[in-house]
Amino acid sequence: MLLEGKSVLITGASSGIGETTAKRMAREGASVLVADVNDEGGKRVVDEITTDGGTAVFLHVDVTDEAQVDAMVAEAVSRWGRLDLAVNNAGLAEQPGPMHELSTEAWSKTIAIDLTGTFLCMRAELRQFVTQGGGAIVNTASGAGLKATPHLTAYSAAKHGVVGLTRTAAIEYVKQNIRVNAVAPGTILTPAMKNFGDDQLKVWSELMPSGRLGTTEEVAAGIVWLLSDQASYTTGSVLEIDGGYMQA
Ligand code: NAI
Repeated sequence: MLLEGKSVLITGASSGIGETTAKRMAREGASVLVADVNDEGGKRVVDEITTDGGTAVFLHVDVTDEAQVDAMVAEAVSRWGRLDLAVNNAGLAEQPGPMHELSTEAWSKTIAIDLTGTFLCMRAELRQFVTQGGGAIVNTASGAGLKATPHLTAYSAAKHGVVGLTRTAAIEYVKQNIRVNAVAPGTILTPAMKNFGDDQLKVWSELMPSGRLGTTEEVAAGIVWLLSDQASYTTGSVLEIDGGYMQA
């Protein structure tokens, strides 16, 4: 098992990529703190992990709330004695549209959750990692954080920011036994994506060099590897999990 005996927190773990990653980490032997604003989904994920024989606990955490984020790290430490690993995954995109029509409200909400939320989580985790002498972080960025993404101004700006946070922290903390990496998923078939219907999914699939969308399992596998000791010499990297989309 890749994460045997480790304690980990993951934000945005009530659905999609976060849910699959939380379950995968538990199967790899980690004790998992499932954090999300969606209490019902988070409790269901914890129940499913526990039924499967894993260890998990749910905590209501809004990543834009500094006090809740700090309490999240404190909760993991008080339960398991330390926090070994963290996945900062909570995020959303604004309603797509041209930049000149983007409202300040939609801009601010996306930046608050995707960028400031990631910063608040990283800061709380790094404080703990510095104190205990090590740790590893994986942030969920996006292909939109590496190349232009027309009609997703705030999302693209926020995810570029997440890449910047990842690379900067990786260098600042490399000598303190702390690794910081990110994944950049392409278009992934999550429950929310399925709601767009088969016709739209077919259009998106045809845009991919691979001819299909990615699965949440494929992203989770990358996150778990980056967290694990197998990636002990990997820091500051942004792992593209996109069926070749960035290279096309
Ligand atoms: P999702 O909507 O299934 O999951 C996102 C989770 O974040 C939800 O459970 C939601 O309740 C939670 N969340 C939202 N605001 C929050 C807040 N303020 N505090 C705590 N939790 C909050 O979406 P999905 O697709 O699984 O996305 C997960 C991450 O992956 C996001 O950061 C997203 O930007 C990123 N991503 C997704 C891609 C895709 O194609 N699905 C592609 C590239 C990146």
